[in-house]
Amino acid sequence: MIPHLLSTRDLSRESAISLLDTAEDMAILGHRDNKKLPALRGKTIVNLFYEDSTRTRISFEVAQKRLSADVINFSAKGSSVSKGESFKDTILTLRELGVDGVVIRHPSSGAPQLLAERDWIDVPVVNAGDGTHEHPTQALLDAFTLRKNIHGADSRGRGLDGAHVIIVGDILHSRVARSNVWLLEHLGARVTVVAPVTLIPAGASRWPITISHDLDSALSQPVDAVMMLRVQSERMRDAYFPNAHEYSQGWGLTEERFAALSPQTLVMHPGPMNRGLEICSTAADSAQSVILQQVANGVFVRMSVLYSILTGTSEVPHE
Ligand code: CP
Repeated sequence: MIPHLLSTRDLSRESAISLLDTAEDMAILGHRDNKKLPALRGKTIVNLFYEDSTRTRISFEVAQKRLSADVINFSAKGSSVSKGESFKDTILTLRELGVDGVVIRHPSSGAPQLLAERDWIDVPVVNAGDGTHEHPTQALLDAFTLRKNIHGADSRGRGLDGAHVIIVGDILHSRVARSNVWLLEHLGARVTVVAPVTLIPAGASRWPITISHDLDSALSQPVDAVMMLRVQSERMRDAYFPNAHEYSQGWGLTEERFAALSPQTLVMHPGPMNRGLEICSTAADSAQSVILQQVANGVFVRMSVLYSILTGTSEVPHE
């Protein structure tokens, strides 16, 4: 069992499938009247958020409560971080307060790795998104959603071999894209990344992907899912495209592109969405959109990750 979840790049195919299978068990529990498991009773987990979040923070909290853990929610805003307290001193404080696991979101790439490597605290660390580096639980919930839609009831034990996923948009700033590229590769899927030249990172030529700048051409191939990414304006200090209209016309899932899309192609987005920029509302709210399934599945995947790492087993008791 893995001691921490820091990235999907270092997650083996076997470990990833085990986490997805355990998430299947959690989904079954999630449909019972009593959704709770006593698995983490007596454990205290801190959600340490140095960056804003809606989906990730809330779904981690729901997952922790379903596993009967005690939950501490820490937001840098409103904490002593605003008085200048260092990352190290914050962690030492949490250690003395007695936490058994840390879920961390941080604007600096590598902050979860630092926490896992230093001796400030010796508990499992789960990366909930670090800078432009990785967002592993997002990629796992995306894979869970894809596997469920592609393989249905026969999902257990399977990867995504032969599936074709197109990831579109602000790849440069996207930790979601990076985590998905590695995880989809481990699971056997083919990935095409589409973006303006300015929004493709320099190192992407070494990733296991096909790079395209032409969305219409990419969408003319058979595609199992198109994953639209948020334009991360808050991370853009330069102008990466002329204006919102040109971005939408070139790289958005517009009304016209959605109308031409195969009805079998799944529409995905990690959220939050910029409706009208990278995705039109018709596509986001359509029957082939699995965006809300992604949100719901996030709870099962995060339960699986916390359960597996903190108990050291992937076997879920069904009592
Ligand atoms: N997908 C995602 O990370 O959303 P939040 O920023 O709302 O957590």
